[in-house]
Amino acid sequence: MLLRNVIQFSRHVTRSVRRNYQVSVKLLCKESGQNENASVVKGNMAEKTPRILITGGLGQLGTECAKMLRRHYGNKNVILSDIIKPTEESLAYGPFIFADILDFKGLQKIVVDYRIDWLIHFSALLSAVGEQNVPLAVRVNIEGMHNVIELAKQYKLRIFIPSTIGAFGPDSPRNPTPNVTVQRPRTIYGVSKVHAELLGEYYHHRFGLDFRCLRFPGVISSDPPGGGTTDYAVAVFHEGLLNKRYECYLEPNTRLPMMYIEDCLSALLQFLNTPNELLQRRVYNVTAMSFTPEELFNEVFKYIPDLKISYKPDARQHIAENWPQVFDDSEARRDWGWRHKYDLERLVESMVRDVSVNYLPKMQLNQINR
Ligand SMILES: NC(=O)c1ccc[n+]([C@@H]2O[C@H](COP(=O)([O-])OP(=O)(O)OC[C@H]3O[C@@H](n4cnc5c(N)ncnc54)[C@H](O)[C@@H]3O)[C@@H](O)[C@H]2O)c1
Repeated sequence: MLLRNVIQFSRHVTRSVRRNYQVSVKLLCKESGQNENASVVKGNMAEKTPRILITGGLGQLGTECAKMLRRHYGNKNVILSDIIKPTEESLAYGPFIFADILDFKGLQKIVVDYRIDWLIHFSALLSAVGEQNVPLAVRVNIEGMHNVIELAKQYKLRIFIPSTIGAFGPDSPRNPTPNVTVQRPRTIYGVSKVHAELLGEYYHHRFGLDFRCLRFPGVISSDPPGGGTTDYAVAVFHEGLLNKRYECYLEPNTRLPMMYIEDCLSALLQFLNTPNELLQRRVYNVTAMSFTPEELFNEVFKYIPDLKISYKPDARQHIAENWPQVFDDSEARRDWGWRHKYDLERLVESMVRDVSVNYLPKMQLNQINR
């Protein structure tokens, strides 16, 4: 009886938190004329502006994520870090520091000196690169993750660690792949991500750590990708616009889940700001669409009609064949209202524009100087 009352009460609280969250998102959205995600942040900013550290921040996701978070929380509240040399542009808008995730004391010093509240952990070796150097992938992806999670526990940080479709394997259902199912990945990248998901959940239940994790599909942005299996969907825009040719390392009919960077960042921002009461899980699938190389190239032909495509599958084909084809993100949509905005048509239109404006002039200059 007592148990039933407790359960009923907790359901009531969750329902009312969700109702209030949705109402405040909509109201703020109306008032500010901004998108829903920006409004959520505005609502929370009244409470406290978090100071955020991004590790591996000069990679494909970190670069764009820093820009987005700085727009919302202010330039000086977002500290970008990496072990590679920053460009002038990455230094222009806010603090950048050297941070090796294998150096625990160095990380402690940063958290203390900058009074960090949230940690966004992007440092990793991606799937294709990880297979080429397994010992380094173990160090960066597993030992590095041990450091940041322990750090988050010690200093009571909210910690976000991305996972991936690569956290699934040949025994997982591939179409669709639900939030909770068999995960037996066959790459060191996937193994390290399952490890991160499980350790994060364990720290949450054992120590109350505010661990949050989204499994992203292939993320498509104009920034150069870091050696993943879905990189073809970025490379075709760079090489297609510059050389009107692209040799694809996957078979034409290899279907994989994907999302445009704007949707990836919206999901991250909204998820980081979702009240704990609404999170029935600490790890959620998110996605926007699924397509094959052939379907993507057919859309790209509309903008680059003289583009020549050839196919030469390599080791990445084998990785892709063991990954989800269609990702089921219904739990993220149900629990915290995740919605994507970009479908294949909008994605291609945006990528052609982004690469033409941001990269084509630089790439053409490099070609002339060669
Ligand atoms: N890009 C995608 O499509 C995608 C999809 C799913 C998940 N993710 C995840 O998102 C995160 C970021 O991905 P990305 O595409 O930006 O990767 P990326 O390879 O572009 O960037 C990773 C960064 O980590 C840095 N790094 C490597 N070793 C380090 C160390 N010892 N200390 C500190 N930094 C170090 C690198 O210098 C690099 O800048 C990764 O965890 C990845 O698994 C990415």
